[in-house]
Amino acid sequence: ASPINIDTIPPVRVFPDFPEPGVAFQDLAPLYAEPGLLARLGDALVEPFAGAFDTVLALEARGFVIGTAVAAASRSPLVLARKAGKLPGALHRSKYALEYGSAELTVQHGALPPGARVLLVDDVLATGGTMAAAAELARQSGATVAGCGVILELVTLGGRKRLAPNPVTSLLTVP
Ligand code: PRP
Ligand code: MG
Repeated sequence: ASPINIDTIPPVRVFPDFPEPGVAFQDLAPLYAEPGLLARLGDALVEPFAGAFDTVLALEARGFVIGTAVAAASRSPLVLARKAGKLPGALHRSKYALEYGSAELTVQHGALPPGARVLLVDDVLATGGTMAAAAELARQSGATVAGCGVILELVTLGGRKRLAPNPVTSLLTVP
């Protein structure tokens, strides 16, 4: 796989004060629109965790895109963590606070096999609340967290610290 050269990929578009005042919306659409780039992003997130995970957990909604790329690149099972109200059956649940509002992630019982080594994948790491909720779903499932992979990390919001000691890989950073 060709390495990601940050200088050659289109910039993330930032929309200030969306969806709430004080929040800057990081729009990854230009990356997804670049031919072949999504596959390379998937490869780049597999690489640091190769051999250390056996299942990918992708986080609704924006994490489904890169999570699918990571699962496909690594030929791993893909599990979708859904927001509250979307999944039938017995569920593990984890509530979390966002930069704006609050939400709940869920997975079905048995979706993450006990003992699975799970790579948590999302598009953006901000405060880390979403990723921490995903880690809690893995814990409730009897699985272990192999690591966290995101395309973009908003460093000043401290998500990486919050997720410690779980290893976090981000492909792009905003200071
Ligand atoms: C965004 C983004 C991450 C999360 C990061 O999702 O896709 O999942 O926020 O923020 P955090 O690190 O502070 O938790 P959002 O909740 O807006 O929902 P969506 O993916 O369904 O659009
Ligand atoms: Mg999200």
